[in-house]
Amino acid sequence: MQTLRLSTSEADLARAAEILRTGGLVAFPTETVYGLGANALEADAVQKIFEAKERPAWDPLIVHVASREMLRDLFGELPAELEQVKAFMPGPLTVLLARPEKIPLAVTAGRDKLAVRMPAHPVARALIERAGVPLAAPSANRFSRPSPTTADHVLADLAGRIDAVVDGGPAELGVESTVLDLLASPPLILRAGGTTREQLEHALGRVELYDPEMHTEGEPREGLPSPGVGIRHYAPRVPLVLVDGDEASLSGRVRNSTGRVGVMLPSGWKVNAGAAVLFDWGDWEQPEVLASRLFAGLRYLEDEGVEAIICPLPQPSGIGLALRDRLRKASF
Ligand code: TXA
Ligand code: MG
Repeated sequence: MQTLRLSTSEADLARAAEILRTGGLVAFPTETVYGLGANALEADAVQKIFEAKERPAWDPLIVHVASREMLRDLFGELPAELEQVKAFMPGPLTVLLARPEKIPLAVTAGRDKLAVRMPAHPVARALIERAGVPLAAPSANRFSRPSPTTADHVLADLAGRIDAVVDGGPAELGVESTVLDLLASPPLILRAGGTTREQLEHALGRVELYDPEMHTEGEPREGLPSPGVGIRHYAPRVPLVLVDGDEASLSGRVRNSTGRVGVMLPSGWKVNAGAAVLFDWGDWEQPEVLASRLFAGLRYLEDEGVEAIICPLPQPSGIGLALRDRLRKASF
């Protein structure tokens, strides 16, 4: 199939919505990363997502809505648990709630909890609104690849496999939403992301963080609280080497490497580059900037044909927690 690149014009959004209503796949921008959407109420449409991404059937999808009315329609009434997190919805937060009957089991991979999110991005909201149905949407990359933050990234992975991509420019945040199990007590962060643990604790009191490193490779996925965690994920095609520490440790690591390596280099940091390819990652003191450029940097360096990528690990607070999580999973 030929994948259409659509703009955010009225006419193009109407076309994208029509494709979604008739069971097709449309990638669209959100404030975190691009998502690959399908009508969440139709099992056949949802099935196509798994095929296009080559995503295993055990990995459940997030359902995206545009409004509180849509949540009410989906659940019959507004779930009481949502009251405590309403400041973050719309926003980069996904919550696990009891799966309503309307949602086919393919969406939740057979689980009785459903992940829902209300994106803040105006194009995402307009598209969902016009489609008139909730959209199941994982990140719009091939399974295990870095998430796409531009329409070009989407096309690099999925051209010819999906009906269309709506090009809304680069995604602002650059890392995915925080996945929070609201039925757990205390609430449990399954994936660190755009809404920070600090923000959630401020609103909810104690919030726990699931440690994906507790999971060992090969363990059956069905028993895990979130099956997508704890595996090689978000990964470039070449090995990713993480360096804990500062400018000096990064520089030492680059100096001791052999072959043509790529470096995720914070602005102003000096390394003895030699044959290395440098990606200007942004100000180390501004983790939001690092987040917005993380996946683009990994994709840039692998496209440059480097043999390995060397990257310093940001501090584990605020959005830095999500950055470390993505980098760890990408380096397994
Ligand atoms: O920011 C985001 O969350 C983006 C944009 C497009 O909204 N979406 C996204 O979806 O990152 P995806 O499928 O790439 O990652 C969703 C994660 C997966 O690790 C999946 O295993 C987990 O959420 N998840 C989804 N539904 C779940 C459920 N019912 N129970 C446990 N984990 C779930
Ligand atoms: Mg993903």
